[in-house]
Amino acid sequence: MAPLGVVGVGWVGLVSAACFAELGHDVVAQDIDPRKIEMLERGDIPIHEPGLAEVVERNRERLHFTTSMSEALANSRLLFCCVDTPPTYSGDADLSSVRAVVANLTADREHALVMKSTVPAGTGVAIRRELPDLAYVACPEFLKEGSAVEDFLHPDRVVIGADAGDEWAADAVEELYRPLGGEIVRTDVASAEMVKLASNAFLATKISFINEIANVCEEVGADVTEVARGMGLDRRIGPSFLRAGLGFGGSCFPKDTQALKQLAGNTGYHFQLLTAVIEVNELQKRRVIGKLEKHLGSLVGRTIALLGLSFKPHTDDMREASSLVLASRLQGEGAVVRAYDPVAGDAARELLPTVEFGASLEEVLEKADAAVLVTEWPEFADADWASLRDGMAKPLLVDGRNLLDPESLRESGFVYEGIGRPERASRSVSTESAEEPLAT
Ligand SMILES: NC(=O)c1ccc[n+]([C@@H]2O[C@H](COP(=O)([O-])OP(=O)(O)OC[C@H]3O[C@@H](n4cnc5c(N)ncnc54)[C@H](O)[C@@H]3O)[C@@H](O)[C@H]2O)c1
Repeated sequence: MAPLGVVGVGWVGLVSAACFAELGHDVVAQDIDPRKIEMLERGDIPIHEPGLAEVVERNRERLHFTTSMSEALANSRLLFCCVDTPPTYSGDADLSSVRAVVANLTADREHALVMKSTVPAGTGVAIRRELPDLAYVACPEFLKEGSAVEDFLHPDRVVIGADAGDEWAADAVEELYRPLGGEIVRTDVASAEMVKLASNAFLATKISFINEIANVCEEVGADVTEVARGMGLDRRIGPSFLRAGLGFGGSCFPKDTQALKQLAGNTGYHFQLLTAVIEVNELQKRRVIGKLEKHLGSLVGRTIALLGLSFKPHTDDMREASSLVLASRLQGEGAVVRAYDPVAGDAARELLPTVEFGASLEEVLEKADAAVLVTEWPEFADADWASLRDGMAKPLLVDGRNLLDPESLRESGFVYEGIGRPERASRSVSTESAEEPLAT
């Protein structure tokens, strides 16, 4: 088997390289960041991703890390492009990293560029036009951070887009992925690119939809977790991505929804639904402020503890994390913000220089006026909330992910606020107490 080239060893690239090695391939993994390459050569893993360190360790002999593109090119026929495509100020995807990779490629008939980075539809056709001798395959990645290794090795589907003349490369990619068992979708390049953008936009739409339903539930006394359960059992709807909360973040949904909206806009089409999805998501994070004020009155001088900082559990990725918006909104209201995250503390410190960091749940909750659960880490689900409450100045908990059981929290003496969950129990447990005493 010929070695494979992987360009960019971030979440997608490192997981792909490690998993290809796990499948028995030699992999030359290249990145422009010498610190990352040095770390990987030493056996250190630059990101927190469950199971990844073990896969890399198991396959050390098959993994070769380098900063040299010519080394990657000399040793592989298929070159998997896994570089970042962050948003620009205009909301369009920033393709400068992809462009830099393409600029380093020699246009020959020996190599194929396999695009795993998420790029706007039309990118592949444009690259192919520039380098007509290079084969091009769109093979968008669907892994989720937090379960990336598992997702890569057990995909629901593998989308492979190639245009006329590049069938050999698409066949080679199909051959690679076939042992993983997911359904293979062979299509053209532009359609493959759109599958990725449309999938993320649809999932983001589901999240914003259930968040709006949650907001209506709060007005009518319904419980969104019950509503979502009832909806999700309908096979046409399905249960996933129907969890109300603080909105979506991370390196994909915010940028990919924006990029698709802009892509449509650039063609003259106004993607109204996606515009609303993005706006709902922005407003959702801010609703927490109202929930805190409802019980505390003004937040000036109040100490608020943020529990969880990463955009989702099982990762230290802080890109577009809801915690970033919340921290600055709370500070804008005059609150003192403290924070604790089981793994993302180091990554978060740089981004939140004015936030006080705690080393544990106990420490961050000590004398706090309220806690906001931002990321649904298992540690928070398993915590002894009754004893944690004793350390707090006021027992107010806003559960931004509906992770905890409202009844048991209320029995433990908390004033519990979820997202789209009724306050029935709150009224019965602490009829007179809830709002007045906390607002002192
Ligand atoms: N993170 C995810 O969960 C996920 C899932 C599916 C798809 N994607 C898409 O995959 C792509 C990569 O995402 P990521 O999260 O892995 O990004 P990342 O920022 O974690 O990693 C990108 C890597 O590319 C390197 N790089 C940048 N320019 C380079 C160049 N010219 N040559 C070599 N290396 C270069 C960077 O140093 C970095 O290590 C993006 O388009 C993203 O949208 C990400």
